[in-house]
Amino acid sequence: MSRSAHPAGPRHADVLPEGHYTAPPADLNALDPKVWAHTVTRDQDGVVSVGGIEVTRLAEEFGTPAYFVDEADFRARARAWRTAFGHDADVFYAGKAFLSRAIVRWLHDEGLNLDVCSGGELATALSAGMPADRIAFHGNNKSEVEIRTAIEVGVGRIVLDSFQEIVRVAHIAQSLGKRQRVQIRVTVGVEAHTHEFIATAHEDQKFGIALADGQAAEAVRRALALDGLELVGIHSHIGSQIFDMAGFEVAARRVVSLLAAIRDEHGVELPEIDLGGGLGIAYTSDDDPREPHEIAKALSEIVTRECEAAKLGTPRISVEPGRAIVGPTAFTLYEVGTIKPLDGLRTYVSVDGGMSDNIRTALYDAEYSVALVSRTSDAEPMLVRVVGKHCESGDIVVKDAFLPADLAAGDLIAVPATGAYCRSMASNYNHALRPPVVAVNDGEARVIVRRETEEDLLRLDVG
Ligand code: LLP
Repeated sequence: MSRSAHPAGPRHADVLPEGHYTAPPADLNALDPKVWAHTVTRDQDGVVSVGGIEVTRLAEEFGTPAYFVDEADFRARARAWRTAFGHDADVFYAGKAFLSRAIVRWLHDEGLNLDVCSGGELATALSAGMPADRIAFHGNNKSEVEIRTAIEVGVGRIVLDSFQEIVRVAHIAQSLGKRQRVQIRVTVGVEAHTHEFIATAHEDQKFGIALADGQAAEAVRRALALDGLELVGIHSHIGSQIFDMAGFEVAARRVVSLLAAIRDEHGVELPEIDLGGGLGIAYTSDDDPREPHEIAKALSEIVTRECEAAKLGTPRISVEPGRAIVGPTAFTLYEVGTIKPLDGLRTYVSVDGGMSDNIRTALYDAEYSVALVSRTSDAEPMLVRVVGKHCESGDIVVKDAFLPADLAAGDLIAVPATGAYCRSMASNYNHALRPPVVAVNDGEARVIVRRETEEDLLRLDVG
């Protein structure tokens, strides 16, 4: 079928099917710096490059689908967080967003700490040389082995998430002849404006111990009474992909009032509060994320003010951004396969990856952008849905977007802002081979996580 037969031309908004889009962008070849990594540009010849290397060359060398991470951008964002929070605060990168040994080394170089939530993340961090005392260990159901390992290697803190865990961590620490630094994770009762599955501070969910009915105060009582624990602070994480600082302000206020209550009851001022992660990034041009220095200023002002009001010394603040550091620094490169125009609806563009390399669209109804990156085009915009190659109709990568109507099999398209929670939540569904992560910097590209092979899959299959 000739491309011109596609029902793909520009359409007036009121005849477009329901979706998240507004209107086609004025220039389909433009790359909005809000959603693309810092060094991404379109060269004279129309090909997009990152870190000085054209995507066509990257695709040839590393294949598709693949994630490309802009190392300079990652380091710059990590540094911006570190600088914004200064020496009186700590930044713990949330490894769940994406973790590999190279990432650990970059974080270490840039002076960040690390939040891990499993034995696997801890092992990765330690194997890349992150000092254990700069690691925080999280999780609502840490195994005994994970707790024992964390204490043995000397992690800087364990964040206690339940009454059972208070006792479990204390006993293991004591049996090892140690006193473990811990924080207690509380749920502050804030409804963060985000998807239900990534909001974590309302009470009806699995994380933390509620402030509301005195549970958190009881947890503090028990933790203070146990020899194996050194209670150093209170932790709160209200959710993810949040733009509105109001939720953090309420959380900070409630955590500080707990610190005041602890001081009144026990005569101790806990020295730390951790306000978690969750800061939103731009997935599309409609998103307006805050800069780290604005976030740092807002959080430290509110904590200082509340502490002054409660006549408390200001505790050391820490934060745990994951997405806000790694998210914008990477994109996924795909090759276009089949193109299926559906009359009066939209055009389905299939790529060589899908929900196995980005589950976020299916899981959270997440929105993404997409661009043709192997060339420019003057063709009219066509409304597309970028889908994967999995046996599932929910296998959608980008729900609603515009690409040029002359898009053809073999073109390369890229989805920006896939650095967080894409490779880390990738799966082998349909025995897909998980894509590599390639770091690009200053004209050089190197694989930091290699592509899976069929041998990798078969190695696990021992039946
Ligand atoms: N700290 C704690 C205790 C957390 O649970 C999380 C995320 C973070 C920090 C980092 O949050 P971030 O700054 O990256 O938003 N898979 C979901 C997000 C789940 C986040 C879980 N916890 C997604 O793809 O949006």
